[in-house]
Amino acid sequence: MTHYKELGLVNSRELFKKAMAGGYAIPAFNFNNLEQLQAIISACVETKSPVILQVSKGARKYANQTLLQYLAKGAVEYAKELGYAIPIVLHLDHGDSFELCKSCIETGFSSVMIDGSHLPYEENVKLTRQVVDFAHQYDVTVEGELGVLAGIEDEVSSEHTHYTRPEEVEDFVSRTGVDSLAISIGTSHGAYKFKLKPGETVPPLRFDILEEVEKRLPGFPIVLHGASSVPQEIVDEINRYGGKLENTAGVPEEQLRRAASSAVCKINIDSDGRLAVTAAIRKVFYEKPSEFDPRNYLGPAREKLKELYKHKIINVLGSAGKA
Ligand code: G3H
Ligand code: 13P
Ligand code: ZN
Repeated sequence: MTHYKELGLVNSRELFKKAMAGGYAIPAFNFNNLEQLQAIISACVETKSPVILQVSKGARKYANQTLLQYLAKGAVEYAKELGYAIPIVLHLDHGDSFELCKSCIETGFSSVMIDGSHLPYEENVKLTRQVVDFAHQYDVTVEGELGVLAGIEDEVSSEHTHYTRPEEVEDFVSRTGVDSLAISIGTSHGAYKFKLKPGETVPPLRFDILEEVEKRLPGFPIVLHGASSVPQEIVDEINRYGGKLENTAGVPEEQLRRAASSAVCKINIDSDGRLAVTAAIRKVFYEKPSEFDPRNYLGPAREKLKELYKHKIINVLGSAGKA
């Protein structure tokens, strides 16, 4: 067993308390490789933001669990080396079984999500409670989910949104003991959140559901998944340099800002980072077809990613200066 405190990590409890009081959200950025990690840490140090490093089941398999542990420990030291020791959480994104959550906790994760949102309600409660009972023995925080987002998350996909039912949230939180709750209010995973016909605009998120949840769970940290904005200029850049992404749209940043100032304490962003990396790499290959040193295309990708993260922290989540 490697406890997260040995790696210099923190759980999410205090971060959420401060985010709730301060009306901002903690960034939860997904990563699976060195350049993404460097971009996240340097962006957060430069803006003095706390951060949740988020790893999906697939990302853990891709990166290797042993390497991940050292990468997380390295991230803590890297932040200090850059000049500012920000609080860092290592979080399992969309855990799908007790065994996976247990294994992550035993290998240094300070926070886990158990996503039983696709299960019948009582099974979701039972599985989530089992994970909480194990995690809390080690002071690891747990995120649960009620309601299903449309889109793909690891191997599970849903064609339609099933909005969170506010009447279930008090029962779920009290019976499971979770530390935070992901809800479904109209966001979805991936780069194709909304397919718009000409002249149409993105429909607003269901803030009425969020407000009802807040009323029923006063002061309780809420999590927003599927919060990429799919910036049009990045999509255009990808397409300009030979890519083919058509009719994509994400969650407008003003809506995320509004969510961040409410009980939403954690905002998950993965796809926007993937798009930024893709745009930067495509540009290098388009302009310099003879390039073959990975540092010369992964380096610009890392830089573009860092700028994207800084923008999110400063202009969308409001977590700059909160570390
Ligand atoms: O919600 C899912 C995240 O974007 C992680 O995606 O399972 O492809 O690593 P992944
Ligand atoms: P996006 O696909 O919108 O970036 O959502 C990421 C996410 O929710 C990770 O859990
Ligand atoms: Zn998600």
